[in-house]
Parts: sequence; structure tokens; C-alpha cells
Amino acid sequence: MSDQQARWDWIRAQTPVMARNTYLNCGFSGAISTPVADAMRRRLDLEVEEGPVTRTVQDDKVATMTRLRALGARLLGADDGEVCVTGNTTEGVNIAVNGVSLKPGDRVVTTSLEHGGGMIPAYWAREKRGADLAIVHMEPDDGPGAMVEKFDQALGDRAALVILSEIAYSSGQVLPLRQVTEMAHARGATVVVDGAQTAGHIPVDVHESGVDAYAVPSHKWLCGPDGLGLLYVRRDRIADLDPVKVSARAAEAFDFEGHFTPNRDDIGKYEVSTMSTPAAAGMVAAIEQYLEHGPQAVWDRVRDLTRYAERTFEAIPGVEVTSPRHEETRSGLFLFKAGDLDCTLLAPWLWTAGRVVCRSVKQADSVRLSLHVYNNEADIERTADLVRRALAEGLPEDVQAAAEA
Ligand SMILES: Cc1ncc(COP(=O)(O)O)c(C=O)c1O
Repeated sequence: MSDQQARWDWIRAQTPVMARNTYLNCGFSGAISTPVADAMRRRLDLEVEEGPVTRTVQDDKVATMTRLRALGARLLGADDGEVCVTGNTTEGVNIAVNGVSLKPGDRVVTTSLEHGGGMIPAYWAREKRGADLAIVHMEPDDGPGAMVEKFDQALGDRAALVILSEIAYSSGQVLPLRQVTEMAHARGATVVVDGAQTAGHIPVDVHESGVDAYAVPSHKWLCGPDGLGLLYVRRDRIADLDPVKVSARAAEAFDFEGHFTPNRDDIGKYEVSTMSTPAAAGMVAAIEQYLEHGPQAVWDRVRDLTRYAERTFEAIPGVEVTSPRHEETRSGLFLFKAGDLDCTLLAPWLWTAGRVVCRSVKQADSVRLSLHVYNNEADIERTADLVRRALAEGLPEDVQAAAEA
């Protein structure tokens, strides 16, 4: 067995849920491993046993948050001082989008592939700030060239802001971020990236892509806990992207006589107040684990699993693979349609019939499997066998439709 395969087997063995369920849903929320859970427990025990604001516990809090920002910078290819801690991706996207100054009529460009976490801030900019919203319509089989061409047309000459995912949650497509950013910058537009589906999945390099802001969560492909995320803002944009919620960290100095000097240049201005240190300790452990696996090795493995899923599902009569097949746009999000079975019923049935955890994406009329390094070929085959059974027997009438995000 190769060292690499031994590593994937090790992480599977360290991910307790895999002993009970076929967990294929890290695009929603990743499976927490024992080392990550232990890191959270250790920090919680420290607070419980020592008290939350004793000296050692406070020092540990500062050290944990500092380590998280530094690891976040490594994870994203940023420098220290360009990454702050947020509550989730959506909060990071909102900070950046609402920090951009827009005049009525300025164009905001987004895509038809966005999650509500990017789409609604774009609509809000139209609703509240009079932006002219352009939505680039993408197809799952659009390659990078077709996508770049569509963006080029949508940007026009008045684009002020672009909001896009680097990987689309609804199709699994990887978008050509560097090319779109170059075109947007040539028009003077700011580029804000929803990286909900990227951190822990694809190697991210914000300096290479040149984007202005990039937001990621802890709880999806990084397999950290809920309730934390990271926001990168390029050093030279920090001063002009105003924070939308403020507290003492957004002040360089203030007193109670009316004197106030805003903190313009330090990215800490976006971190409003107290955050959970046990969660931060878990996110630190999750990023360390991912960096130890190696971002390129993870990326190679998840695409191998996707290719395996494509071959396995394509061989089932009546099944159509609906995620992208281009080498440049394929990711670890694999989508399929099974005959005329309703995807919103098939996904919950896979759970009740075989403890397979996945989701449907109504927008794509498909079931989505998120294939991570703790998964293996046997997970894909088990799921494919269940789909074969559903096609042969139909779904029982009492399957409950799952709520769709
Ligand atoms: C592309 C995308 N953006 C945003 C979100 C929301 O993420 P968060 O909970 O980190 O705000 C999701 C969640 O599925 C997503 O897939």
C-alpha cells in the first residue's frame, strides 16, 4: 500500500462517523475527526477547570486566536495581517461586499451558480444601494474559456464589484478565478470570493489569483467545527473596505470626551468581539491536519474519487452525471440524476435505506455527493447499489422531502 493510501486510510479510521454512516456531505458540513474533537475538548476542559478568565486560560486564548490567523494566512496563501477570524463564509462575504463603496448604477456582477450567501448580498446591493445587477448564467459543462467570455460580456465598462464562488455548490464547477479577477481589475472592479466550497478541498492561493477578498468556513471541507470562518482582505484594500459592524478593535484610540481615531489599516477592525476558543482550537487542529495531508494531495485524491464516481454511476442505466467533466472544472462535488426519481426524495431515502448522508440540489435537479479524503471507493459503490435499487423498485411513498438550502 502506498504511503498516500495509508494516510487516507488513517484519516478514515480517525473519523468516527465513518464507522456508522456513509458520510458524503462535507459540502454541507464536514465530518469531525478525533484529533479535532480532542483539541476542542482539551480547550473546553481548561476553561471548565481553571475558569475562563484566569491568566493561563486568557494567555491560551490569545495564543490560539493568533495561531488561527497565522494558519489561516498559510492556508489561503496570504501574508500575516491579511486574514481575520469571522463566524462563517457568509459573514466574510458580507463584510467585504458591504465595505465596497457603490454609487447607484454601478454594476455588480455575480453568477447563476451562487449560494444565498453570495446571491443575497448581491441582490441587497441592488435593493439598498441602487446597483445595476448582472447575473452571468453558467451551464455545468461550460469550460473556463466559455465562462471567461460570459464574464467579459457581463462586466461591461461599469463593473464595480464581482461576487463569485471559486467552486459552485450547485454544480461542483471550479470557476476561472484568476482570469475573471484580471478582467474585473482591468475595469477597476473589486472581486469578492465565496470560498465556502474551497478551503480544505482545493489549494487556495489568494495572491496568485489576485482577488481583493476571500471568505471561507471552518465547517465544510476543512472539517472543523461550526461557528468560525476566515476572511482575507488584500493588504492594500484593508484601509478602504470599511467594516460593517464595529467595536473597540475598529478604534485606534478613543476616549469619553468625543475623541476618536478609527483603525483603518489593521485587519482586526473586522473582528467585532468575543469568539469561542474551543471552536478556534478545533479549527486550528483541522487546518494543521489538512496542511499535513498536503493541499495538492487532497485535491488529487478527491478528483480521483469523482472520476471513480463518474465511471460507477455512468454504468447504471438511467443515471445521468450532471457535475462537470472538464479536467479544469471538475471538483470533489459529484452530482447525478437518477431517471425520473425526485432528487429531494432520493437523498433522504438514501439515508433511511442505507445510512448514506448526502443532499439534493434542487437548482440542478440532482443528488450531490461530496467526496473527501475520508471517503473511499466502497462508499461510492454502496451508494450506487442503493441508487440501482431505487431505480428498480421506485421510492416508497412515505419518504419525506428534505429541506433544501
Ligand atoms: C457556496 C456557498 N456559500 C456559502 C455557504 C454558506 O456557508 P457558511 O455557513 O459558512 O456561511 C455555503 C453553504 O453550503 C455554500 O455552499
